[in-house]
Amino acid sequence: MNNKVIFDTDPGIDDAMAILFAHASGKIDLMGITTVFGNATIENATRNALYLKQRFSIATNVSAGADTPLVVPAGEPTTFVHGQNGLGDIDLPDTIPLETDPRSAFDFIIDTVREYPNEITLIAVGRLTNLALALQKAPDIIPLVKEVVVMGGAFGHNGHTGNVSPYAEANIIGDPHAADIVFTANWPLTVVGLDVTQQTIMSNAYIENLRNESKVYGEFIYQISRFYSDFHKQSAGLDGFYVHDSSAVAYLLAPELFKVKQGPIRVVCEGPAIGMTLCKTIEKTFPVDDWHNKPKQQVCTDVDSQGLLDLYMQTLSL
Ligand code: RIB
Ligand code: CA
Repeated sequence: MNNKVIFDTDPGIDDAMAILFAHASGKIDLMGITTVFGNATIENATRNALYLKQRFSIATNVSAGADTPLVVPAGEPTTFVHGQNGLGDIDLPDTIPLETDPRSAFDFIIDTVREYPNEITLIAVGRLTNLALALQKAPDIIPLVKEVVVMGGAFGHNGHTGNVSPYAEANIIGDPHAADIVFTANWPLTVVGLDVTQQTIMSNAYIENLRNESKVYGEFIYQISRFYSDFHKQSAGLDGFYVHDSSAVAYLLAPELFKVKQGPIRVVCEGPAIGMTLCKTIEKTFPVDDWHNKPKQQVCTDVDSQGLLDLYMQTLSL
């Protein structure tokens, strides 16, 4: 039976690539795409989700979500990474002739989880605001969610500690309070952070190959990823780009590609280390311990990068 997934996202170039990965896999029923501010404004993120739905005939609901974090001030969309329109500044219509779901993202999540108890996996690859709002409004959904997979955070494995600040990753620093709520909820959650997503690089040669191999998706991915590739070249000297959001989809499709560790996770919510993610793996209890009594979650510490790249290529080669 296919995994029923709600995909919470801020498309976003790598978000779009991840949505297409999930769609093309044939192993995921996309119950809904819920959008959140981040890589783009909420308007552009939602338009981009509708564009993908229309262009690639993805049978799913699109629900617009949060346009601002829970507590910290809203930053500007990261257009220097994803382009002004969020999809690498390819030509896009201003509006798409498709309706969004009338419910806001968090209500869509609540209703769908209640409708399909123990069947829904939440994959979240943007700020965690929508998930936190759903938890705040309806904590009864916690035991009804099958699994949560988050792309976000950085725990220092393989030397990866942050991409916005020295110790914070974009999705977490963008709404640290939401992330702390989501990570400390008592549901089974796996974090796919920079520890593994920066271990896997899609080189420009890889994308050229995908362009040739994937009749349906290759040209589109090539076009949207030029901006992203330029950003990675300038900021990190890479030939190609890190595989962030698709790594979360890969975790669902092929968890054997990843190594994990377990422990409660907290997020720093103020000060110079705001957005830092910390997983307590030692069993000892301390006189002061804000991890104590929080549920153990999973953090990915290593990935079979070649296996992941092969899976993506194989899945998209339609
Ligand atoms: O830090 C990487 C994450 O930030 C990815 O989800 C990317 O799409 C951006 O949102
Ligand atoms: Ca994202």
